[in-house]
Formats: sequence, structure tokens, C-alpha cells
Amino acid sequence: MGSDSLTIVDNRTGQKYEIPIVDGTIRAIDLRAIKKDKEDFGLLTYDPALLNTATARSAITFLDGEKGILRYRGYPIEQLAAHSTFMETAYLLIFGQLPTATQLEKWEWDISHHTLLHTNAQKLIESFRHSAHPMSVFIGAISALGSLYPDARDTACVECRLLQAQRIIAKVATIGAFTYRLNQGWPMNYPDDELGYVGNYLRMMFRMTEHKYVPNPVLERAINVLFILHADHEQNCSTSTMRVIGSSQADPYSALAGAAAALYGPLHGGANEAVLLMLEQIGSVRNVPGFIDKVKKGEAKLMGFGHRVYKNFDPRGQIIKKMAHEVFEVTGASPLQDIALELERIALHDDYFVSRKLYPNVDFYSGLIYQAMNLPTNIFTVMFAIPRSVGWIAQWMEMMREDDLKIVRPRQIYVGEGARDYVPIESRKA
Ligand code: SDX
Repeated sequence: MGSDSLTIVDNRTGQKYEIPIVDGTIRAIDLRAIKKDKEDFGLLTYDPALLNTATARSAITFLDGEKGILRYRGYPIEQLAAHSTFMETAYLLIFGQLPTATQLEKWEWDISHHTLLHTNAQKLIESFRHSAHPMSVFIGAISALGSLYPDARDTACVECRLLQAQRIIAKVATIGAFTYRLNQGWPMNYPDDELGYVGNYLRMMFRMTEHKYVPNPVLERAINVLFILHADHEQNCSTSTMRVIGSSQADPYSALAGAAAALYGPLHGGANEAVLLMLEQIGSVRNVPGFIDKVKKGEAKLMGFGHRVYKNFDPRGQIIKKMAHEVFEVTGASPLQDIALELERIALHDDYFVSRKLYPNVDFYSGLIYQAMNLPTNIFTVMFAIPRSVGWIAQWMEMMREDDLKIVRPRQIYVGEGARDYVPIESRKA
């Protein structure tokens, strides 16, 4: 086998260039040496959606889209879903190792003592219309936290970064629950440190007038697993946004608000909400063939299907699908489940979907579980943002440790007008 390098011949000049290959990549900046003449700026790569561009070196999450492999810090997602808790997995993503019992106890204590929200942030949440989309409220509240913790702007301080991480992980659950309570017109439930992270979240969401709220253990376990599955997913759209904003040394609350905004899109984390809206629009199993025809004509998208990386199956979807049956035993099956199963049956066999490698992704099944838990569709993406905040902050912390961290500033291909002189308004033509 030859050397780890490319030999490039520029046919414009006959010049040859040796470009080293490292970790299966070439450094795009090495292409700048390839010039057609001395005036030339040098070659750029053009990859608008970053389809084939690595933007980070990360030790947090490993994905293999062909084989459907997902590992957090080397641990298979299937094993974490079966044996871990969301708090333990959060520790793993942040610190890189599974905690000892003592470390986990301290971690859970630290997080539980940051769950209270500053009254300014609570008042901001309550200032939104009750009908505001919970993700708009979530993004606004997260951004506001940056104004309450000025120490967050010292992004060079290692201890400050960990403190913000603990605050964020703790407070996103409180904020998420408060967005739901606002929507429902119910008073906020303050956190209860006696309960674990997920139990406390369920209590903040669902406690009404009962003095002692006891979370349903099946639902508490299901949410733990869903939160584990949603915690990180390497350089997805929202995590890349977190890194881009963080690269300017903005505080982590501002960066996380941007990441949450990216997640809100229906092509990303907003898909779980879009799946339920799609199923409700289809309305009945007998309407599925007609909807499939619309998708094939390009008139509709099969929300919850397809993935930029997974080209066989999304391992998270497989786990969630199995878990859905346990939840439905407690909650009763989702009325839209039959439609979902028929869509899945067709998509897994119909060549239009198979040829495009469109398989159910994590968002396809999670919405069915949340709907079976009587959660309103518009809270589903908040249920994604809460656990993904761990991945966002872990990736931000990893980036902030880099010695050669530089602000992200891509180039462009200019396709606009050439130089031209200003035209006085009286001389302009429509
Ligand atoms: C998440 O990146 C991550 O890791 C994300 C995520 C995470 O954990 O962070 O996994 C979470 O965002 C999951 C994805 C949730 N989104 C959806 O379910 C929305 C529906 N899916 C798509 O919009 C789409 O599949 C994407 C956005 C997920 C991926 O799109 P790509 O990789 O840009 O692929 P593409 O749009 O270029 O599609 C390739 C072909 C096209 O057909 P042709 O033009 O070649 O004929 O497949 C078609 C697309 O039209 N296609 C679909 C489709 N998804 C792709 N056709 C119908 N329905 C779909 N869902």
C-alpha cells in the first residue's frame, strides 16, 4: 500500500501536489497551495451542507451509519439504554468515564441543587402568551439565563465551564416543565430534590393538587431511556450550531439557545412533532396508500424517516419501538399507532423508500410514546432539547479545551454582480 497521501495534478498548470491523508481526511487548507497563477487565492472546497466535511475531532460519540452503530464514549447505546440512567449517562458524556457510586451520588447532588430557576427567568417564561410554542419559550428562557450568570462569560475558566454545565443540565428540565405548565395554564411546580432527575421532571410537569406526587415507575424508566437515547449524536445540525457559536467565545447559554433554535426545525428535532401532525393528517390506516403516493410525488415528506448518517436503521428507533409497548401497557396504545405501523411496513418494503434508504429514525417512535403519555404535540421537541442539552454542553466543553480553537468563519463562492458605480435615484429604472 502506498503512502498516506494524495498526489494531485492540476491540469491547468501541470503542477503536482502531495496532500497528506490523516485520519481518513485531508486538511482543506492544504488545497490552498493549488493555484492557477500567482494571483490566484488557491483552491477552496465547496460543501454547503457539510455533507462530506469533518468539522471537529471529538471523543464523545461514535456513529457508524451503515452498520447502525451508536456509542457514547465507547459504550453501545443498547447497553446504556438497558442498564444506565440519564444522570449516569450525562456524567459519562461530560467526563468521559462511567462514574463510581460516590461520583454519581455527588453528581446527582450537584445537579439537584441547581434545578431552581431564578425568578427573573420564571417571570420571563410567564410573560409569554399561554399559546406560545414551548420551544420559543425554551429558547428565550435559556438565552435569558446568560444574563443571570455573568461568570458564564469567562469561557477560559475551567471551573466556571463545569458550573454552567451543571446549571444548564439542571435548569433545562425546570424550564421544559415550565413551558408545559404555561401552555396548560397551570401554576408552576417547583423542583423536589427528593426525587431523581426524571422523577422530578415528571413531578414538575404533572403534579396537580396532590401533596406527594409519585412518578409512575414505568414512565420514569421510559423517559430515562428516551433521554439517554437523545443525549448526544455527534456533529448534528444543532450540535454544530453550538460549536459555531461557542467558537466566538460567547457564553454557553447564548450558544445553547442557538443550538435549541436549530433543533426546533422540522427537519431536525422538530420532526417528532411533525410526525404526530402527519399521522393526525393521515387520520386512518385506509388513507396511508394515498399519503404514500403524495410522498412519492414529492408533495409530502414522510416525517420521522430518513437520516443523513444512518442508511440502514437508526439504533435508537429500534430501542424506542420496543419500549413503546411497555409504555402502552401503562398508558394504553396511541390511537395513531396503527397508522405508524402501516407507514413503517410500507416504507421498509417499497422500493421508493428502500432505494433512498429511508428508514424510521429516532423521531418516528418517540412522538407516539409522548402522545400516549398525553403530552401535547408541541412539547415533543422540548422533550428532545432537555436531554440533548447534555450533548450540546459536553461538545462545547470538549471544544473549549482545544489549544488551537479558532472562530468559525467559512469562505464563499461569490456569484453576485461585478464592481459597478452608484446610480442616483432619479436615474434609476424600475
Ligand atoms: C434528527 O443529524 C442527526 O444526527 C440528527 C438527529 C440527532 O439525533 O441529532 O438524528 C435527529 O434530526 C433525525 C431526523 C429527523 N428529521 C426527519 O424525520 C424529517 C424527515 N427526514 C428528512 O427531511 C431527511 O431524511 C433528513 C433531513 C433527515 C436527511 O436529509 P438529507 O440527508 O439531506 O437527504 P435528502 O433530503 O437529500 O434526501 C435524499 C432523497 C431525496 O430524494 P431525491 O431528491 O433523491 O429524489 O431522499 C428523499 C429526498 O427527497 N427524502 C425523503 C425523506 N427524506 C429524504 N422523501 C420523503 N420523506 C422523507 N422523510
